[in-house]
Amino acid sequence: MLVTGNEILQDAHRKGYGVGAFNVNNMEIVQAIIEAAEETNSPVILQASQGGLKYAGIEYVAELGKLAARNARVPVAVHLDHGTDFAQVMLCIRHGFSSVMIDGSQLELEDNIAITKKVVEVAHAVGVSVEAELGKIGGTEDDITVDEKDATFTDPEEAKYFVEQTRVDSLAIAVGTAHGVYQGEPNLDFDRIKTIREMLDIPLVLHGSSGVADEDIEKAISAGISKINIDTDLRIAFTGAIKQFLKEDPENIDPRKILSPARKGMKKVIMEKMKIFGSAGRA
Ligand code: G3H
Ligand code: ZN
Repeated sequence: MLVTGNEILQDAHRKGYGVGAFNVNNMEIVQAIIEAAEETNSPVILQASQGGLKYAGIEYVAELGKLAARNARVPVAVHLDHGTDFAQVMLCIRHGFSSVMIDGSQLELEDNIAITKKVVEVAHAVGVSVEAELGKIGGTEDDITVDEKDATFTDPEEAKYFVEQTRVDSLAIAVGTAHGVYQGEPNLDFDRIKTIREMLDIPLVLHGSSGVADEDIEKAISAGISKINIDTDLRIAFTGAIKQFLKEDPENIDPRKILSPARKGMKKVIMEKMKIFGSAGRA
């Protein structure tokens, strides 16, 4: 069933488990996520990044996501990931997304507050949940790149002020993760997560969660993270399965034969994550 981001994340926040938000770009990825969620009886968030919207088109993403959500036996939210401008967020709401992110983290604090507030006002009026971001998460996701030297951790006091001003539903915080494939070992600031969790009573979001050790993800959830964003790990599972298939059967030209193992490979990874996050059995 299609639900808002809030319906999923408030339960996770209150009960202290994590919910995966997986990036979608095509039908096979959507199907892999939904099959994994149904088999583990897990709530789940389908999300589309800037690159995902550009690749598939907003209509395809919205209709695929809503169809999958409506037919699913588990709660599913359809979410805009890293929305960068007001008009695009409005377009996603118009197309039926049940949750949106406005990422003003590159702006000055007051400008980030202003754009987030504007989105919250409209989104809440039509029952759509809003995620914002404060602090700068390093790495690259599609068109958005933040240099390691420019990455800055979220300040707890500032986060409190930001949430009071904006009334946003969930907050992405910068605590040591980075988008994309890690060069070195990620070093998470669990104390900072705990402090922010104690100061704010809203679900916190961990971006750049691919490649982070399972124990660290579990620790981050215990410290107060409710939403865990995964993209790169799905890309790796998808392309890994295709490479393997074509290595064994290089002459095969049937897209269905090539994409089936990719869907299966992603589903396996997603199911494992749902168990680690603690969302399995919570639907
Ligand atoms: O917004 C999406 C995520 O933060 C994905 O990050 O590709 O490192 O898993 P990732
Ligand atoms: Zn992200």
